[in-house]
Amino acid sequence: MVRTGGTSAAGQSPQPAPCVLRLGRRSALKRLGGLALLAGQGCRTSVQPAAVTLVLGDQTWLDDQFQDRRHEELNQFTKETGIRVELVPAPEGADDTLTTWRNLLESGARIPDVYAIDVIWPGILADNLLDLKPYVPEVEIAAHLPELIANNTVAGKLVALPCLIDIGLLFYRTDLLSRYGYHSPPQSWRELEEMARRIQTGERARGQKDFWGFVWEGAPSESLTCNALEWQVSEGGGAIIEDDVITVNNPRSVQAWASAARWVGAVSPPGVVAYKEWDADNIWRTGRAALMRNWSTSHFGTPVHKSVNGSLTKDKFDVASLPRGRARFATTVGGRGYGVSRHSLHPREASTLVRFLCRPDVQLARSRKTWGTPTIPALYSDADLIAANPYFSTILKAYSNGGVLRPSTTAGKNYPEVSHAYFEAVHAVLAGRKTPASAAFDLRTELMQITGLKGA
Ligand code: GLC
Repeated sequence: MVRTGGTSAAGQSPQPAPCVLRLGRRSALKRLGGLALLAGQGCRTSVQPAAVTLVLGDQTWLDDQFQDRRHEELNQFTKETGIRVELVPAPEGADDTLTTWRNLLESGARIPDVYAIDVIWPGILADNLLDLKPYVPEVEIAAHLPELIANNTVAGKLVALPCLIDIGLLFYRTDLLSRYGYHSPPQSWRELEEMARRIQTGERARGQKDFWGFVWEGAPSESLTCNALEWQVSEGGGAIIEDDVITVNNPRSVQAWASAARWVGAVSPPGVVAYKEWDADNIWRTGRAALMRNWSTSHFGTPVHKSVNGSLTKDKFDVASLPRGRARFATTVGGRGYGVSRHSLHPREASTLVRFLCRPDVQLARSRKTWGTPTIPALYSDADLIAANPYFSTILKAYSNGGVLRPSTTAGKNYPEVSHAYFEAVHAVLAGRKTPASAAFDLRTELMQITGLKGA
């Protein structure tokens, strides 16, 4: 891969000439270890004029349709601009990706030039990401959902442009619900527990001994933060930190965690306390669960993906909003955007790539072929899109009615510690190591220490 110098953002001092990295560069980029090493090297080789090649750090462990679509997108981008793009895979899982991105950005690595940024990372990574406002026309920014733009704006800097909404959804087996006389998915958590128990008992009696009622993500990780927040907010326990006060220690949260702990080993496998998204998916795909909580971006979360190879549940499921608690319905808002590294040698080209990946026509094409749920509200009135994927209107409705953001803006750089303390506290309850009341009490103290905020 050859990189050229001389392109700098308006008003910035000229960038140093980058290196030409020879043999093995392409394969080295396939591994993040190699990437970190290369990124720290100075210029020791000759400079050759050539087209710019950008490095994009993004998820690559997703399904084939998504990966194929992204290759098409990147080829289209190169055709339009002459700029080539190398893809660097993110590690699996939000926590590991954040650690890797953070290490690269904080060490001043020149590549990747462009990073995929989860909705919870803007406050953590902002110092090392460029303000996109000088590069992206206002009208393009204003086309996105305003709360996502607000979420991605840190101290007045727009550090990522949104490209994808993700929310928690309930996946349910239509064949099994009708076998047991249910006409609709569960409306409340209580109903979900009853339904899960009944179907599980019935299916086991029919011979499927390892069948479970409900699978979800209970591993001590960001995935559990998202699941637990949904239970807690829907029961009226609030979103951990509200109006700069730690509110997590309250009877409603305690009760929500206690209910989930009751599921473990009863309607959910004992191992659910070690499940992340893919683990739940695997049980689901092999037809061993009646209900699943997973993301709208799950690799087979749309009709387009019902036909995914190897899935025993294809054509036998549907998706719905998560059940309500006693207070309301809640779904954790996930998703991502793209931001440009402050250390990139090609900020203008990099921001051109960001604009391209978030552009209405590119989002629309992605949505037609994959589960990519658009961040531009106007696209939801595209009749072809809705016809191709009726779930997008379900998703937009659930997002608008029940979307809950994790407290990443309030916590800023402390968010990883806040989330870690939260999921460890909930995990201790799920695994039976602590009572819900003592876990909530201790968590309040811990969060006050981490954030310096008051506790209610
Ligand atoms: C999904 C969401 C992301 C969240 C992650 C947690 O990828 O889109 O926002 O942080 O799951 O595992």
